[in-house]
Formats: sequence, C-alpha cells, structure tokens
Amino acid sequence: MAAAPIYLDHQASTPCDPAVVAAMAPWWTEGAANPSSRGHRPGLAAAAAVEVARGRLAQALAVPPEGVVFTSGATEADNLAIKGLCEARLERGRHLVTVATEHRAVLEPCRYLERLGFGLTVLPVGPDGLLDPDRLAAALRPDTVLVSVMAANNEIGVLQPLAAIGALCGRHGVAFHCDGAQLVGQAPLRPLELGIDLLSLSGHKFGGPQGIGALVLAPGVTVAPQLHGGGHEGGRRSGTLPLPLIVGLAEALDRALADAPARGARLLRLRERLRLGLEALGGITVNGALDPRLPHNLNVTVQGVDGGRLHRELRRWLAVSGGSACSSGAPSHVLQALGLSREAAAASLRFGLGRGTGEADIDQALAVVSRLLPALR
Ligand SMILES: Cc1ncc(COP(=O)(O)O)c(C=O)c1O
Repeated sequence: MAAAPIYLDHQASTPCDPAVVAAMAPWWTEGAANPSSRGHRPGLAAAAAVEVARGRLAQALAVPPEGVVFTSGATEADNLAIKGLCEARLERGRHLVTVATEHRAVLEPCRYLERLGFGLTVLPVGPDGLLDPDRLAAALRPDTVLVSVMAANNEIGVLQPLAAIGALCGRHGVAFHCDGAQLVGQAPLRPLELGIDLLSLSGHKFGGPQGIGALVLAPGVTVAPQLHGGGHEGGRRSGTLPLPLIVGLAEALDRALADAPARGARLLRLRERLRLGLEALGGITVNGALDPRLPHNLNVTVQGVDGGRLHRELRRWLAVSGGSACSSGAPSHVLQALGLSREAAAASLRFGLGRGTGEADIDQALAVVSRLLPALR
C-alpha cells in the first residue's frame, strides 16, 4: 500500500483528540440516554452531562451558559445566527452586511435572505484580505440589522479586526455575528469583550468530533428557530441533543485552549520554515497578510503552473487543499476577492498545520514541491 499523504489540511478538519474520544466513550454505551427523558435516572444523568458540557463551553468563552445553543456545526450555527436574527428583528429593518471572503456557510444564508427581499451589502477586502472598518461604517444604514464578519479566514488565515467591528456595531445598535469556526480553540476568544452578539463554532476544527458545534448568544440576543420540533435548547434549536458529541465538544475546547499559546508558537515556527522554503524555490507568493494571521495557515500561489495539474500531482504525497473544503472544486472566491485571477486562484495551495505536524512533515512537503515543480512548469 502506498504511504499515506502528509496531512496538512487541518483547517478542513482536525483529527479527534484521543482523550476526547475517551471522554465520549461511555456516553455512546452504558451512559446512553436521551437528555430530554427526565422521567428516569439515565435520562437525568444525560441531561446533567449536557449541562456540565454547556458550563465548560460557557466558561471557556466567558459567556453565561444560557447563551450556548448546541448545533450540528458551524454551518448550522451560521444559518441560525443570520436567518434567525433577521427573522427575530423583522420590524427593525431588512438590511444586512457581510464580506466577500466569508465562508459559504455565511454567504449563502445572506443570499437566501436577499432572495426573500432583504437588502444585502457584501463588502470587499483589501489585497491583504482584511476588512477596513471605515468601509463597514459607510455601509451601515438605518435599517441595518446584522453585520456578519468572520474571526479568521478559513483559506488565508487572516484575522479580521473584531474589536473595531464590534464597537462600531454596538454604537449603531446593529447585531454583530462572527463566524469563529477557525479561531475558537486556537486562541482565547471572549465574544462579549469584543462586542460579538452571536458567535459560531465547530468542534472538528479543534480536535473535537465532526457533527457538533454551537451558536453562542450574548445576553438579551434572541434568534427565531430555524428547526422546529420539540423545542429543545430553550426553543431555539429542536432535535435530540447528541450527548456524546456535546461531551466531546467541551472536552476538546478545554484541551485545545490549554496548550494553545505553546502550540501556536510551535506551529508558527514550522509555518515560517515552510514559507521560507517555498519562497526559496522561486515564483511562489503568499496570499493574504502574514500578520495578523493564524500561525498554522499558509496559502500560496504557484506561478506558471496549471492549477488542475498541480493538485493532481501533489495529491499522492500531500493532503492540502486548493481553497475551502466546501467550495466544490470551483476556484476560490476568497482568493479572487483578493484580486487573483481564476487561473492564479486555481494554482494556489492552502497548508493547514496542526497538533500532529512536525518538522519532518514540513521538510518532506518542501521536498515534494521542489521535486515536482520543474516538470509542472
Ligand atoms: C469559517 C468556517 N465557517 C463554517 C464552516 C463550516 O463548519 P462545519 O463543518 O462545522 O459546518 C467552516 C468549515 O470549513 C469554516 O472554516
């Protein structure tokens, strides 16, 4: 069997931490019960475990536990935030603002609302991938109800100026939704201190299981439910709570945050080794600002090669991606928003380093690119 490719796609998904798997284990079997079944002891124990997990998540994010709504991931959290907030504030206005480089889990709900008659402003970013808060200020209208800007970009890793955006939204009485899928678990993030009213997160981006995430609401912020049914989660999200996944989510976040500074510093050194090594090959340019940026992200364009061939040749050796894992193969809308042509966007690589990445992985990745490059050109 051929050796497995080197996994450098941690922004698409991270392996589940073995300690998280262990923490979840009893809740699949001997502890299994529906947390809504309050009429017997197993159900009550399940409900108690959910509340412990909710409390841990709330503490990690410095929010009241009532603000934590469990969802199936960040896509659902984004949908609940955007559609739910706009529906809850229909009488206040029908205009929302977002940014061209957002994940499709944000852009598509916004476009859906636009089709229903909402006004939508999609702001451009600079060539560095950053939003200028002055542009946002100019886009706000008396009928604006929501601004949605991500914390860290999933393709180019740049960090948006959340505190400035939060302050601006606060001054205008506009709700601020932040897709935190790529930042939560990588660095401490306290939404209330940044003026964030709604924060989306996803477990599989920080060593937790796939299929679980949360929408975190600031006190007093309400959303209209988008899943109707048994009225779980205070009526905000119906559906049986996935007990093992919820336990895993809380365990993963605590573990991810416990060593986040040390991990970030280590991955930054590795990322810089990769960047300098690639740049030394010539004709390879970095996309997006290097600072402020996630330490474990690098996104580069390889000049003078066909994107399709580049990815086909690399695939055997390296697990990297061309853009978002959810972009269905189309050239990245994020890179095009930075001003890259479709061809240059297609000939781009996103490296996402993670907990398991070591120096040998970086050196092997560099060796692969350097070996394949002459033939590709
Ligand atoms: C910024 C961002 N938002 C949303 C998502 C979707 O998250 P999930 O897979 O939990 O639905 C992702 C995952 O790729 C992401 O990176």
